[in-house]
Amino acid sequence: MSSVISLTGIRRVFSMGDQQFEALKGISFSVDAGEFVAIMGASGSGKSTCMNILGCLDLPTAGSYLLDGLDVGGMTPNQLADIRNKKLGFVFQGFNLLARTPAVENVELPLVYAGLHSKERRQKALSAMEQVGLSGKENNHPSQLSGGQQQRVAIARALVNNPAVILADEPTGNLDSSTSNEIMGLFTALNRQGITIIMVTHEHDVAAYAGRQITFKDGSIISDSQTKRTS
Ligand SMILES: Nc1ncnc2c1ncn2[C@@H]1O[C@H](COP(=O)(O)OP(=O)(O)O)[C@@H](O)[C@H]1O
Ligand SMILES: [Mg+2]
Repeated sequence: MSSVISLTGIRRVFSMGDQQFEALKGISFSVDAGEFVAIMGASGSGKSTCMNILGCLDLPTAGSYLLDGLDVGGMTPNQLADIRNKKLGFVFQGFNLLARTPAVENVELPLVYAGLHSKERRQKALSAMEQVGLSGKENNHPSQLSGGQQQRVAIARALVNNPAVILADEPTGNLDSSTSNEIMGLFTALNRQGITIIMVTHEHDVAAYAGRQITFKDGSIISDSQTKRTS
């Protein structure tokens, strides 16, 4: 099995003055290519701390993290930025789009950082927009799109680099339930095409779309269960 993510004994201790708080207490799990994983747990259980480490936005206090076989520990900030851009796609609760920029240019952004030429960027961005069902909306600004369409733009932006993993933190948190179901249908379809997805949610019906649920409590994993076959 090819693990795209491998966490072993990950601890994250935050220091505030002379106070120390252990937000992750030595967690371990692996994710294989093609899995769709939901991370669940109460507020404060360590989900975002874990996602920040998975996203190479933060480093663990102890433990090891292999991303697509690369050891993230000990990388310099520039190397982390580089691996983030090459290996990961991000989807956020608040979409995080540039408001005054046409949808297609939002989707192109990771390719600008990757240094691709404009023609190739446009081609890849148009194809990612087609993949998420947004053909015809290329020139709309985010304010001219519904919440669900804005999240589709964000998902196209996450896909455009052909990342090893898509990380989504509460991707349906700002959407009504029918739009949430549409977005989860899109994630399911992308996963069936082989895309690996790790998603944080506190909603059980959203988590049910994933083939595997990992539950956090007080900085530890209390359950890790497969509900259906993924791949
Ligand atoms: N930068 C930080 N400094 C201090 N404590 C933090 C920091 N980030 C998170 N924490 C603490 O770590 C715990 C886990 O937080 P978080 O990972 O955001 O939980 P979740 O996303 O599950 O709600 C919380 O008690 C939070 O207060
Ligand atoms: Mg959180």
